[in-house]
Amino acid sequence: MSWFPSLLSNDIAIDLGTATTLIAIKGRGIVSREPSVVAVQQDPQGQRRVLAVGKDAKEMIGRTPSGIEAIRPMRDGKIADFEITEAMLRYFVQRAHSTRSLMRPRVIVCVPCRITDVDKKAVRDSAESTGAREVYLIEEPMAAAIGAHLPITEPAGNMIVVIGGGTTEIAVISLAGIVHKESLAVGGDKMDQAIVDHVRRKHNLVIGDRTAEQVKIKIGTCLKSPPPMHMEVKGRDAAAGVPRTVTVGAHEIREALSEPLQQIVRAVRGLLERTPPELSADIVDKGVVLAGGGALLTGIDQMLRDETNLPVLIAEDPVGAVVTGAAMALDDPNLLRHVAVR
Ligand SMILES: Nc1ncnc2c1ncn2[C@@H]1O[C@H](COP(=O)(O)OP(=O)(O)O)[C@@H](O)[C@H]1O
Ligand SMILES: [Mg+2]
Repeated sequence: MSWFPSLLSNDIAIDLGTATTLIAIKGRGIVSREPSVVAVQQDPQGQRRVLAVGKDAKEMIGRTPSGIEAIRPMRDGKIADFEITEAMLRYFVQRAHSTRSLMRPRVIVCVPCRITDVDKKAVRDSAESTGAREVYLIEEPMAAAIGAHLPITEPAGNMIVVIGGGTTEIAVISLAGIVHKESLAVGGDKMDQAIVDHVRRKHNLVIGDRTAEQVKIKIGTCLKSPPPMHMEVKGRDAAAGVPRTVTVGAHEIREALSEPLQQIVRAVRGLLERTPPELSADIVDKGVVLAGGGALLTGIDQMLRDETNLPVLIAEDPVGAVVTGAAMALDDPNLLRHVAVR
């Protein structure tokens, strides 16, 4: 009877992120973790055909000939392209989900706090179109807090900061509800852009977003005295227009990142100022938990510690915490009733 559970328990959790889409399936854990990118080809009639989704599509960003486009349908924490979002969702779900299942799945989708009601409806419709029996939505910081194992159902304040690609979502959670939240359109993408701008200004070199992201991941840091790390960066000379290589250092990248990072710090501070004193006292004890890919930036925990004087911890799997938390909510009817978006 070992096949029996897989035929029935096929609930699916989806984290529809601006940078990464993750899928978890009951009993199997996280089964897919791919960039939220779709490459499409436009034919002369204006019809769009999907060429690639996920990693393969991300490789194409900034490298496509005319007629082909690598699209990030969830830019800035909003649905920028409904049709492509739906195509992407369907592709990932179909690939991850066993079609042998007898029952249509229950699906939970995590969405950024800043998406509109129209977008929420679109996400619901898309999830239904993939064959879901029931669809639930959960806000990203709530899912992240559950996935990071914060005791969110207790009458005590928990603060979670999710630094994603397009957004940073900050929330204070108590009794399974969001007491205060802030959604900032600043995240990893703005950091990449800050690096692009810096390299252009300082080195007269035009580089792509993908290159900037690699620089950020490799030598990006928030540490006050960064280690003497360097990296060679290739791009196009802004004046001569020819390819050129320059060496950039961790120090200058730290400088370049300071503006978006300060915006995140200000938003965290702002939310702390608005938090009722009892809950603030809890946060002083328990600290702030960081999740999202941005939490992997070297020294970001230390920076927030210095700037807020609070304990700061990084979730165990910062990128996976959101989908893991959503899956946990879907599995617990009582919790789901409290945390699902109506
Ligand atoms: N090691 C790292 N250091 C710094 N930033 C990182 C690292 N790994 C991933 N990121 C950044 O995290 C962001 C994506 O985070 P993610 O949680 O997947 O976003 P989203 O939830 O919006 O899809 C990207 O901007 C990516 O460049
Ligand atoms: Mg995410």
